[in-house]
Amino acid sequence: MRVIQTLDFFSSEFKAEAYPVYAELRAKDPVYRITMPDGQTGWVITRYQDAVSALKDNRLVKNPRGLISSEDMVLSTMERDFITRHMLSSDPPDHTRLRSLVHKAFTPRMIEGLRQRIEQIVHGLLDEAEQRKRMDLIDDFAFPLPIIVICEMLGIPVQDRDRFREWSNAVIRATNHPERMQEAVPSIRAFIDYLRDLFDKRRGRPGDDLISALLHVESEGEQLTENELYSTVFLLIVAGHETTVNLIGNGVLALLEHPDQMDKLKNDPGLIRSTIEEMLRFYSPVEVATNRWAAEEVELHGKRIPKGDMVLVVLASANRDENRFDEPDRFDITRGANRHIAFGMGIHYCLGAPLARLEGEIAVNTLLQRMPDLRFGVDPKTLKWRPSYLMRGLIHLPVTW
Ligand code: HEM
Repeated sequence: MRVIQTLDFFSSEFKAEAYPVYAELRAKDPVYRITMPDGQTGWVITRYQDAVSALKDNRLVKNPRGLISSEDMVLSTMERDFITRHMLSSDPPDHTRLRSLVHKAFTPRMIEGLRQRIEQIVHGLLDEAEQRKRMDLIDDFAFPLPIIVICEMLGIPVQDRDRFREWSNAVIRATNHPERMQEAVPSIRAFIDYLRDLFDKRRGRPGDDLISALLHVESEGEQLTENELYSTVFLLIVAGHETTVNLIGNGVLALLEHPDQMDKLKNDPGLIRSTIEEMLRFYSPVEVATNRWAAEEVELHGKRIPKGDMVLVVLASANRDENRFDEPDRFDITRGANRHIAFGMGIHYCLGAPLARLEGEIAVNTLLQRMPDLRFGVDPKTLKWRPSYLMRGLIHLPVTW
């Protein structure tokens, strides 16, 4: 059997051949042990049913409570708090409290209210590119859209977006990787300083945005600490764009690779809803769910996962499980009953799912309407995946029309 070596798991090359490796793991070793670069033991879960159970299992916790992790090894307390004091790294009751403070801003009804603004941003980005007859779909389209939207929701100056991108990319790359985490320290510090400055200004002049609302809650002092405030804003910025960029980028890649499906969508834009679900399943933007740790010994398929070990749930593999999906490696935008788990499952189910879906629908349909002759701008064999084990996303996707 091909083996996932730790190094491979973190590389662009692994991403290019990951799906056949996952298929082999599902068949032969569905609870597969690896050693992470920081020395922790991780158990890689690849089957759909096991992934669903693991995501709902309250013995698998998000806050390692003093168990050693790369962050503990490399970061100061302040830096570690910044990247871990948010809902996605918390368990109930903290998780429940932190999620409830922001969830109202992300309900389908609130998000539907952003439709016109999202359409305007999409057209604006395509206006800029149109005459050039080519663009990098990632840098010029898939990245700016979600970051502009989340900046506007939070009340952060949109012109600073390239700085967040750099800082947040550095943190994503560094998860479970001490050397990369060491390299990410200046980015984390710059990010903290930036937010401190922004919060100071906003305290004096609150607006109608999410940061002002959170600052108000923090000032009351009961429901949100200062560390949690910083970390929550960090999470919303990172989760708000690191993922949707990949939904749009991977989704357009899948269409370019399957011209018959692209034609089908062009002829019937009403298929966009099922298209987005199929894009999420086929090239899941979050490849592996965020770390979970066994709070007690857990047994699965005859393997004993000791207390304190990490569990890595591979959403990308679960979404290609032949025991759950017919012909899982076929990209079919009319696929029915598509119960993928690209947004996770259980209490950490993606808070931003309605926003991501709306951004994806508007972005893809508008792109195809305005650039109906869209095609690859380079030989697709030269495309490279980002070297992050958490995410699946292309570094660049040059297109022309
Ligand atoms: C296609 C785009 C997106 C995908 C595929 C995605 C995927 C996910 C997944 C898989 C999780 C759960 C991770 C786990 O359990 O380990 C999650 C959680 C989360 N996502 Fe998303 N996400 C997307 C877009 C967004 C957007 C636009 C936002 C908005 C700001 C967002 C905010 C969040 C938050 C706050 C959580 C943590 C929820 C909790 O812990 O209760 N996501 N997302």
